[in-house]
Amino acid sequence: MPRQKPKPSTARHSLATLAIHGGREAHRAGDPVVGPLVQSVNHLQALGTADGLKYTRYGNTPNAERLQKRLALLEGAEASLVLSSGMGATACALLALLRPGDHLLSSMYIYGGTHRLFLEEFASMGIEVTLVDPFEPRSFRKRVKKETRAIFVESPVNPTCRVIDLRPLSYLTKEEGLALVVDSTFASPVNFRPIEIGADVVIHSATKYLNGHHDVLAGVVSGSQPYIEEVLQKEMLWGQTPDPFALWLLERGLKTLDVRVKRANETAMAIAEWASERKEVKVVHYPGLPSHEDHKVAAELLDGFGGMLALELSGGGKAADRFLRKLRLVTHAPSLGGVDTLVCEPRYTSHAKMTSAERARIGIPDGFLRLSIGLEDPDDLIADLEQALK
Ligand SMILES: Cc1ncc(COP(=O)(O)O)c(C=O)c1O
Repeated sequence: MPRQKPKPSTARHSLATLAIHGGREAHRAGDPVVGPLVQSVNHLQALGTADGLKYTRYGNTPNAERLQKRLALLEGAEASLVLSSGMGATACALLALLRPGDHLLSSMYIYGGTHRLFLEEFASMGIEVTLVDPFEPRSFRKRVKKETRAIFVESPVNPTCRVIDLRPLSYLTKEEGLALVVDSTFASPVNFRPIEIGADVVIHSATKYLNGHHDVLAGVVSGSQPYIEEVLQKEMLWGQTPDPFALWLLERGLKTLDVRVKRANETAMAIAEWASERKEVKVVHYPGLPSHEDHKVAAELLDGFGGMLALELSGGGKAADRFLRKLRLVTHAPSLGGVDTLVCEPRYTSHAKMTSAERARIGIPDGFLRLSIGLEDPDDLIADLEQALK
């Protein structure tokens, strides 16, 4: 078969194109269009050298390397590493930065699992964590001390959809020589790329938008090349590396990231506008609504307001129970960021380990409903929500 001259791989393309082609080898005639799944834990080794040793747990097998290059391009980072869950990503990202005796400043508005990791696991390792209200002016600056190494925030916030202004934090961390670590799961790189405004490390639960089909558990850490080498050491030693099949599925899910997220942005906006007209709904939490407290910051920082929103029903917990029982199309399940529209009550999922009073303090009263908008027809979704409200 005549060899075709390989086409040059991606120069600088837009995110939609990078999600499909970013980081792949130039195609030659006869190559498969879809990057193959190499479901092998070990690979043949050259004699007489440790160089080039390939092993799945080392994060250097073909499916991992192709995907990691693509994710770094999407995030605008020097390098990325895929881990076996979002929690694995958060744990390894921070263990690469912190040692016993160090201090971490974290936003108090974080995913429930991250909250436990910091206050239970890190505390037992001698890493002190202070939780800070990111919406209180100068709150982080006031609590920096000589042992502080990093600032961690999640934005947009799970499940309240609040949007933190990272610009003052980027300034503070540069000034103090700290690392700014951002969990950007809710936004995905389509809506937000924190490195562009000065974050050092970006974390995603790839289980959510990056994969987008409710069938893969994975996480991603992105940052500078030397830092990602450090995270890799943690991934290898704590055994947080995903299986090639999970990586292959994630690569497949990633190809449609741009259209999925843009569609979810539009439908979430339509549902938020519809819900704000309903007397049965007391509060709609969606940063795309001009009435939302973070609308201005969100409009300045984000390229899209996201597919996540939350509703507080006028009838509280009882009304939420009735509403959930009547839903036909919207599925009652945890997690987010996939093709199916999901609803959950954070008091029974992400924030179940907190007391009712603790949840209320961070803006999650009983009866608070979180919606992850999927790709169904917006009119069908609104019709389902409407009949359940009646
Ligand atoms: C914002 C956020 N970060 C991290 C995680 C943890 O991700 P995973 O479930 O993939 O470990 C979640 C899970 O819901 C999340 O919502």
